[in-house]
Amino acid sequence: MARETWGTRTGFILAAAGSAVGLGNIWRFPWMTAENGGSAFLLVYLVVVLGVGVPGLLGEFVIGRRARRNPMGALGDLSGSRRWAAVGGVSAITGVALLSFYGVVGGWILRYLLVSLTGPVTGGAAYLADPGAYFEAVSFGVEAAAFHLLFLSLTGLIVLGGVRRGIELGTKVMMPAVLALLVGMAVWVSTRQGAGAGYDFFLAFDLGTIRGDFFSILGPAAGQALFTLSVGAGTMITYASYLDEDRSLPFDGSVIALLNTGVGVIAGLVVFPLLFSQGIDPGSGGPGALFVGIAGAFAALPGGELLAILFFGVVAFAALSSSISMLEIPVAVLVDEAGWSRRRAVGALLALIATTGTITALRPALFDFVAGTLVDLLLTGGLIAFLLFAGWVLGRDAVAEYATGAGPIATRFGTPWLLAVGVAIPLFLVFTLMTTLGLDAR
Ligand code: PFF
Ligand code: NA
Repeated sequence: MARETWGTRTGFILAAAGSAVGLGNIWRFPWMTAENGGSAFLLVYLVVVLGVGVPGLLGEFVIGRRARRNPMGALGDLSGSRRWAAVGGVSAITGVALLSFYGVVGGWILRYLLVSLTGPVTGGAAYLADPGAYFEAVSFGVEAAAFHLLFLSLTGLIVLGGVRRGIELGTKVMMPAVLALLVGMAVWVSTRQGAGAGYDFFLAFDLGTIRGDFFSILGPAAGQALFTLSVGAGTMITYASYLDEDRSLPFDGSVIALLNTGVGVIAGLVVFPLLFSQGIDPGSGGPGALFVGIAGAFAALPGGELLAILFFGVVAFAALSSSISMLEIPVAVLVDEAGWSRRRAVGALLALIATTGTITALRPALFDFVAGTLVDLLLTGGLIAFLLFAGWVLGRDAVAEYATGAGPIATRFGTPWLLAVGVAIPLFLVFTLMTTLGLDAR
């Protein structure tokens, strides 16, 4: 059977932007920022998004479109080396690891959405009475595992539909809805009294906070930058492998990065003014910060329940359009390399991830480790490998692929880009990796 491709010009961009825009923008970002010193973290994060994330995104695109295969097959094929194939194969593990914690958070979202929807019938959404205690009670345990399975099933259903009728169709519906609803909510929130303090908190850039602890924020900030763009996991190799047109990869990459950053900013313009207008401290750290704070804010608002439905609906769509891209990595590996049917691959992987994810949903300490350090390490290590591959194994071929379909301006940046991905960025990433490992060993 011929390998599937994207059906439309915008299909690829929407799918890749859908992968990028997700819980990373709305849930992990505020949590990581609060935990790592606020604006200093934000600054390092933005620099890494631009200097590492975007060129890295391009590196994955180049590999994927060149090979038209999954990360394992791509690295193996293009190099003729089994070792590189094994390196690419780690992507399948990364996809499983990512989904093992992301599915748990997705389950929280679905639960909050469901509770918001049924609120009018049950006499008020259950989380409203005491948001902190509610989150504490439901975030880990058997029920959390059950909602996580629900989220996984939805993810599996979309991926089962294939590239065009599953992923492309799904993101074509979900992404515009996410954008429109978030903008609408940001406008509405701006009319609330007390919202101004939220803008001040979010947009005030206090460079004074960068002090001696720079090295302790470098690893998490770099990890978050890669996470938010879905770079280092092989998702972008996989999605680019379904391209059959010579579109401009630098252009597409820039659009995706802009959309991702835009959604992050707009989400901030919803979340922080909403919290401040209700006098809620956004710095009350931990992975629950978003759920506790937002639920508390809704509780205080007239019409807050409708807003809650919209908000958790948006977040559910954003989460699903990312989780499908995580599942598609190992699915593509099994379909391309082992010749499995998509159905069989999705079934087997769901069984595996249902198991690992359930363990994660029962163990908060494991969840923290997977969602934080493990993911940072896998994405950083993965991107180092992909970039060294593009720079040293593909070399001039990478530049040729980069230039194909790109305008003359982009073409001129081919060689500088190659130097960046072959030398400068890997060095930087190795350094951040060492700070992460070093700090953990302390
Ligand atoms: N970029 C997604 C987010 O911000 O939520 C998360 C993600 C998706 C990371 C896919 C890695 C990945 F391969
Ligand atoms: Na993101």
